[in-house]
Amino acid sequence: MSNHEFTAIILAAGRGTRMNSALPKVLHPVAGVPMIVRVIQAVRRAGAKEVRVVVGYGEALVRQVVEPLGAVCYKQEQQLGTADAVRAAKHQEISGTILICNGDQPLITSEYLNTLLDDFKESRSAFGVVTAEFDKPGDLGRIVRRKGELVAIVEAKDAGTETLQVKEINTAVYCIRSDLLIRNLPKVRNENSKKEYYFTDMVGICLEAGEKVVTINGKQEMAVGVNSQRELADATKICFLRKANQALEDGAILINPECTYIEDNVEIGPSSVIYPNVFLRGQTKIGKFCVVESNSFVSDSTLEDSVQVKANTYIEKSVVRTKASVGPYARLRPETEIGSEAHVGNFVEMKKVKFGEKSKAGHLTYLGDAEIGKDVNIGCGTITCNYAVDKKKYRTTIGNGVFVGSDTQFVAPITVGDNAVIGSGSTITKDVPANALAVARGKQIVIENYIVNPPNTDKK
Ligand code: UD1
Ligand code: MG
Repeated sequence: MSNHEFTAIILAAGRGTRMNSALPKVLHPVAGVPMIVRVIQAVRRAGAKEVRVVVGYGEALVRQVVEPLGAVCYKQEQQLGTADAVRAAKHQEISGTILICNGDQPLITSEYLNTLLDDFKESRSAFGVVTAEFDKPGDLGRIVRRKGELVAIVEAKDAGTETLQVKEINTAVYCIRSDLLIRNLPKVRNENSKKEYYFTDMVGICLEAGEKVVTINGKQEMAVGVNSQRELADATKICFLRKANQALEDGAILINPECTYIEDNVEIGPSSVIYPNVFLRGQTKIGKFCVVESNSFVSDSTLEDSVQVKANTYIEKSVVRTKASVGPYARLRPETEIGSEAHVGNFVEMKKVKFGEKSKAGHLTYLGDAEIGKDVNIGCGTITCNYAVDKKKYRTTIGNGVFVGSDTQFVAPITVGDNAVIGSGSTITKDVPANALAVARGKQIVIENYIVNPPNTDKK
C-alpha cells in the first residue's frame, strides 16, 4: 500500500496521428489492456485519491473505457498543447500534490510511481520532473542544465544541434504542488515551432519565479511513450515479458518466455508447463502440473491441476477439471465444463456442455447445449442437432455409462438413460430409456451377384 496522497491528471486528448489508426491512441491495447487503463490502474494503486483524464479526440470512446474505472473526464476543446491540457483538467480546483503523466505511457507501474513520489517528498520541492537517459533520445524533450543545475526543458523540434546531443530527457511524469501550478501555469506562452502551449515551459517559468525545481531519476523503460505501432508492439513485448518473468518466479515452466503471451490477470500454478506461442488471456487460472501446448488460446477459463491442453486448442469461458485432457485441435466454447479425467480429442467442438467425469469424445464431434454423464463414450462423428428450424436451441441429456456408436446424431430435445447403447450411424429422434439399445438406421440389404461382369475377373 502507498502512503502517498495525490490527485492524478492523465493527458489523453491527442489523436496520436502517427498510429495511423482510427482508434484513439490511448485505447490501443498493450498485452490485452488499453494503455490508458494501465496508467489509471498504476496511479490508483500508487494512492491517487482522484483521477482526472483529459479527453479530446475520440472523447466518447475514451469515456466509455475510463469512466467505469472511476476516472473523471475533462474535455480539452482544442489540442493546443500539454499545458493547455492540464488547464482543461481544472487544476485550480485541486489542492495538494498533483501527479501529471501521459495516457500513452503503458509501462508505468505503481511501484515505480511510489518511488518517484518518495523522492519528490524527500526533495522538499514543489515541482519535480522525472527524467531518464536515452542513447537515442529522438523526439523527446531534452533536459538542459547549466553547471549541473536544471535550467529548462527544450522540445526536440525547438532544440539546436548542441541541445539535441543531450541524452537526459523529460519522461513527462511530473509531481507538482497545486499552489505552484495555479500561480505559474497561466504564464505559459505558445511561442515555439508548433505554436503549442508546452507544459515543459513550466520548468523555466518556475525557476525564474525563484521556485525550487528538481529532477527525479526515472527509469528508461517506464518512460516509453507510445506514438507509433512500432512503439506499441515494443511496449506489448515488454509487458508480456514482465508477466512471463513473474510466472517463472512463481514456478511455472515456460519453454520460451519470449514467445509466451500471458496477460496480467492470469494465474499459473507451479510446475505447469507452457509451450511457446500460447496465449493465456483475461481471468484465466491454471492449476499445478498442467501442460498447455503450442498455438493454444485460453481465455477467461479455469484449468484445474494436471490438465493437459494439447496443441492448437481454443478454450473460452470454460472449466476443465483435474487430470482431463483436451486437444489437439479442440474447441471449447463458453459455458463448457469438462469433468475430471475426461478426454476431449481432436476436432471436437463443445458449447454449453457439462461433460462428465472420465467421459470421452475422442474425434470429430460437435456437442452443444448438452449434459453428458460420467463414463460415457461418444463415438467419432457424433453430433447433437441442437438448433431447430424455429431458430431455438434444444438440449441433449445423456446419462452415465452410455455408449454412443460412431456417426450418431441426436436430434434435440433428447434424453438417453444410463447405460444405454446407441448403434453407430443412428439418427436418434426419440428418448432412449436406461439400459436399452437404440439403433436408427436403414437396415443393410445385400443383393448377391449384382455386378454381372466384374471387370477384374479373369475370363478364359
Ligand atoms: C511530451 C513532452 C516531452 C516528453 C514526452 C515524453 C511536451 C510539450 N513535451 O512530448 O518533453 O519528452 O512527452 O513522452 O509536453 N495531449 C493532450 N492535449 C494536447 C497535447 C497533448 O491531451 O493538446 C496529450 C497527448 O494525448 C499525449 C500527451 O499529452 O498523451 C503527450 O503529448 P504528445 O504530443 O505525445 O507529446 P510528446 O511529443 O510525446
Ligand atoms: Mg508522446
